[in-house]
Amino acid sequence: VLYTSERGGIRIEQAKSQIIEGNMVIGIGSGSTVVHVAKSIAETIKNVKCQAVKDGKPCDLNVVCIPSSFQARQLIIENNLTLGSLDNYPEVDWTIDGADEVDEKNHIIKGGGGCLTQEKILASCSKDFYIAGDYTKYSKKLGTVWKRGIPIEVIPISYVAIKNKIEKQFGGEAVLRMAVKKAGPVVTDNNNFILDWKFPECSCDWETLETVFKMMPGIVEVGLFLKMATKIYIGTAEGDVKVYC
Ligand code: A5P
Repeated sequence: VLYTSERGGIRIEQAKSQIIEGNMVIGIGSGSTVVHVAKSIAETIKNVKCQAVKDGKPCDLNVVCIPSSFQARQLIIENNLTLGSLDNYPEVDWTIDGADEVDEKNHIIKGGGGCLTQEKILASCSKDFYIAGDYTKYSKKLGTVWKRGIPIEVIPISYVAIKNKIEKQFGGEAVLRMAVKKAGPVVTDNNNFILDWKFPECSCDWETLETVFKMMPGIVEVGLFLKMATKIYIGTAEGDVKVYC
């Protein structure tokens, strides 16, 4: 559905609540789900562009996309979207991203792809933060679906110290994430390491835990996204979409 919007551009309503308007700044998350999302955003913009006419001329939506990772940057370029950065556009209208697990309290684990730090920065700069995933990501209790643990990005020299502190203080096991096709650890886009914390069975207070972790020198970011999502879209096995939040 096309509308002329107060922003002087054109607005399209897609999937009932995703909105792309003229002059918007959109954040692009990372992971395999976002590959499809980026394609869909590009198609939507292309279709609107073809139909939209302003002053008798084809009208450009002028949408800028901000990447959350090297992968997202490539997706923006491959889909012929306009690449921007937080340097130029520190206020993002909305970001869409995938997740490793979401629970019914809007607690989310992210970072399976190692991009948690930029993803969280982008989400925190966005007026709205949308999550898209299939039903395999949804759980009643965090930790029951994503078995690899909570990703924690750490400064390389600190990883042994952080690993020991976490295991001693909170139990479980904090495992250095190793690369698959290279000898050695995974190195993030920020040249850091990732510890995947397989936490013990707990009724954890995730908010407190996140704060405690963030206070440890050496920890850059924790892959817990707590109550950050505006809406969570979960595709069901039947092909419907359930919306949470
Ligand atoms: C990237 O670091 C992650 O946070 C991804 O967003 C998350 O792992 C979801 O990825 P998939 O869409 O590939 O499951």
